[in-house]
Parts: sequence; structure tokens; C-alpha cells
Amino acid sequence: MRTNEVTSPASWARSLVEIDRLTKDYESVGANVQALKGISVRVSRGEFVAIMGSARSGKSSFLNILGCLEKPTSGTYALEGMDVMKSTSEERAYIRSRYVGFVSQGFDRISRMTALEYVGLPIFYSIVSNHLRNEKAKEALRKVGLPDSMYHLPHQLSRGQQQRVSIARALANDPSIVLVDEPTPQLDRRTSVEVMGILRELSDRGTTVFLVTQEPFIASFTTRQIVFREGLIVSDRDNHSPRTASEVLNDMPSIPMQGGIAA
Ligand SMILES: Nc1ncnc2c1ncn2[C@@H]1O[C@H](COP(=O)(O)OP(=O)(O)OP(=O)(O)O)[C@@H](O)[C@H]1O
Ligand SMILES: [Mg+2]
Repeated sequence: MRTNEVTSPASWARSLVEIDRLTKDYESVGANVQALKGISVRVSRGEFVAIMGSARSGKSSFLNILGCLEKPTSGTYALEGMDVMKSTSEERAYIRSRYVGFVSQGFDRISRMTALEYVGLPIFYSIVSNHLRNEKAKEALRKVGLPDSMYHLPHQLSRGQQQRVSIARALANDPSIVLVDEPTPQLDRRTSVEVMGILRELSDRGTTVFLVTQEPFIASFTTRQIVFREGLIVSDRDNHSPRTASEVLNDMPSIPMQGGIAA
């Protein structure tokens, strides 16, 4: 179990995410479901955290609260020092758009947009000019290794490239935290490893990444692993020797290009 700096006031000031005794209840046809039963956790800038645990253990509830999509039932949650518990829904919408990047599974669902348009969509706060919006979107696409795919439509990209576009979109507003809920089931092993490499680079540059996964292989690329069971954190460990994507890729056979376009 991680016996970290939790009780030291100095570390409180440093933590990007500070969660204390947080609970989340859902009303569900006549019954009250306790999705989270009082969890406490601190996460610093640049950590790459795997959220693990069996089905219905609370992983997505935790991610949705981190991303300010939902409000906790009780306890405290501060992101960048902002008290999410006391925020209005408008304030949470602002926090979400400014500080949180969600990686969705599908650029492919919106078929008529170019990668550049799709990535630029969330950039609306503070940036009004089209030119600036495009510049930010281009920068995000460069960060995920797709500088040459800006004007491609989804069907012109491989699944791995579509996933990268989704990551670029999550990065468009320079978020503090990036949230990914099970990104890899539809991807082949090699593409999954490439995606892990991109997420690791983000965390190395200071973006905190939370990744829900049930696969130990995928979690082995992260620097910290938190395991949920029945709404509680049952294990929280630093991974001092995370796998690196480049090493794993070197040991893998190369596969034919997907969709006719190199990844
Ligand atoms: N919107 C909701 N309304 C009612 N109950 C919910 C809601 N969201 C989650 N729950 C319940 O809360 C519990 C935790 O669900 P959650 O989705 O957080 O688990 P999970 O670990 O992400 O599971 P999975 O691995 O299946 O995605 C479950 O019992 C689930 O049924
Ligand atoms: Mg889930």
C-alpha cells in the first residue's frame, strides 16, 4: 500500500488532485447504489495512474468525478486547488473544459470532420479566432505524432490513428488531467503499445494521466496502479520500473499498415 505523504500539509499544497473520504451514491430503481464508499487519494502533476479493478468496482464513477462530469455525494475533491464539492454546475463545466481532457473511443463516429476540425472542437473558451484555434489543434496533432493527417477524414485513418486523434482532441485545451476509460479493447497489441507510449510522453511532460484498464499488461506502462474493489481503494502502488513502449515495440514483429496509411 502506498504510505505516501498524505498527512503532511506541504504535500497537500503540491498535489494536483486531492480527494478525501469521497462517496458517490446513485439512485437506481428504488435502490441506492454506493458506487464509491469513502476513498482518499492524492495525485501529483505528471503521474501516470492506472485505475484497475473488477466490473462495477467504481472505476468509471471515480473517473467521472475526477472529470467533473458528476458531483460526489460527500467528501472533498480539489483539482488544482479548486473545490469541486462547492462548485456550481456552471463552474464544473468551466473546470471540465479548461482543466480536463477526456479521451473518447471514437473519432470514427463523426465521419464528416477532418482531424483538425475534430480536435479543434473543444477549443472555445478564451480562444475566439479560427486561426488560433487551428494552431492549437495542429499543435495537439503534432504531439500525438500526426502532423501529416490534419485534413484526413476518419475513414482515411487506421484505428490507431483515430485513437491518436481522440487523444489530440483531449489535449487541445492544455488540460491538467487527461482521462481515458478503457482505450484499448478494439486495438491490436502493437497499436495499444503505441498509445501507451503517447500517454507516457504526456505524463513525462507534466500532464497527469488516469487510465482505466483491466489489463495488467497495459497497466505495466503506468507509473502508479490503484485498484478498486466494491467502491473502495484496496491497493495503491507506485510502479518504479514501468515498461516503455519503444522497448516493447522493438521486440514485436511489425504488422502491415492499417487503412493504407502509416501510423
Ligand atoms: N448512472 C448510474 N446510475 C445508477 N447506478 C450506477 C450509475 N453509474 C454506475 N452505477 C453503479 O455504480 C457501481 C459502480 O459502477 P462503475 O461504472 O463505476 O464501475 P466500473 O468499475 O467502471 O465497472 P465496469 O468495469 O463494468 O466498467 C455499479 O454497481 C453500477 O451499477
Ligand atoms: Mg467502467
